[in-house]
Amino acid sequence: MAPDETRPESARESREAAAERAGIAVRPEFQSGNGGGLREKVFELKGVDVLYSGVTAVKGVSMDIHRKDVTALIGPSGCGKSTLLRCFNRMNDLIPGAEVKGEILYHGENLYGSGVDPVQARKLIGMVFQKPNPFPKSIYDNVAFGPRILGRKDGLDETVENALKGAALWDEVKDRLKDNAFGLSGGQQQRLCIARCIAVQPDVILMDEPCSALDPISTGKIEDLMIELKEEFSIVIVTHNMQQAARVSDRTAFLMVELDAEEHNRWGRLVEYDETEKIFTNPADKRTEDYVSGKVG
Ligand SMILES: Nc1ncnc2c1ncn2[C@@H]1O[C@H](COP(=O)(O)OP(=O)(O)O)[C@@H](O)[C@H]1O
Ligand SMILES: [Mg+2]
Repeated sequence: MAPDETRPESARESREAAAERAGIAVRPEFQSGNGGGLREKVFELKGVDVLYSGVTAVKGVSMDIHRKDVTALIGPSGCGKSTLLRCFNRMNDLIPGAEVKGEILYHGENLYGSGVDPVQARKLIGMVFQKPNPFPKSIYDNVAFGPRILGRKDGLDETVENALKGAALWDEVKDRLKDNAFGLSGGQQQRLCIARCIAVQPDVILMDEPCSALDPISTGKIEDLMIELKEEFSIVIVTHNMQQAARVSDRTAFLMVELDAEEHNRWGRLVEYDETEKIFTNPADKRTEDYVSGKVG
């Protein structure tokens, strides 16, 4: 992170403003920056089901996500990791036929409440995708995109610089900010997408397999970056790479596919959710143990 004394204060102000725009009432813990401590809950899920066109894809998920943790979602392909991740910033709203049931609280407020504007909520709760998706614009304009939409004109250069520094990309691009983002390597593009996300000072960053399209060196850089970013943001990451979950996350949720008695219907279930160390060394559930030890995949 850039050693900027004024940054946490302005970040907090900007998050408060963002929460207000999103229609989310700001609780004192949220306002007080670090004051809430590590155990503060950012999200509380209670009995969450997700359906696509009436067919259940994820069933009965209850879990809390803690502030400034890296929380990993792991499990075999199709168990609903991406589906669950999209619940955290209402991205499922954009999928025709998708339906979210149950309760999702964000800082104690109903994220799906009638007063919440999902577009604004997604600025507070940003998403980084599997495949880097920079806009066909310059490096600078990619990072400035969000702040410009928010009407910020003053200090844009500084905002862009800080976001690029925060995403560990500044040194590599500072002399070519006007170049097209497509000229960057895949790993650089992904860090640019992270810079674009943090330029609007989100509260939470969601990442869906952010390294799966990257080489090992770029992956290592993003993993290092995640550990830095959690000083300031809460992170939820989907990964199919168990070593990655073990390296970067504080808590891990293991999901798997469950079948009904006739084996006609299948849906994702949260099997176990605990401290990452516990999940990988001493899980409570045999199914978790089999998965993390590679017996099933
Ligand atoms: N947009 C969608 N429309 C319909 N079904 C979907 C959609 N996205 C995912 N699904 C279904 O939901 C289940 C969970 O998928 P997904 O969340 O992508 O799993 P994962 O990310 O763990 O691989 C799968 O059965 C998948 O086919
Ligand atoms: Mg997925």
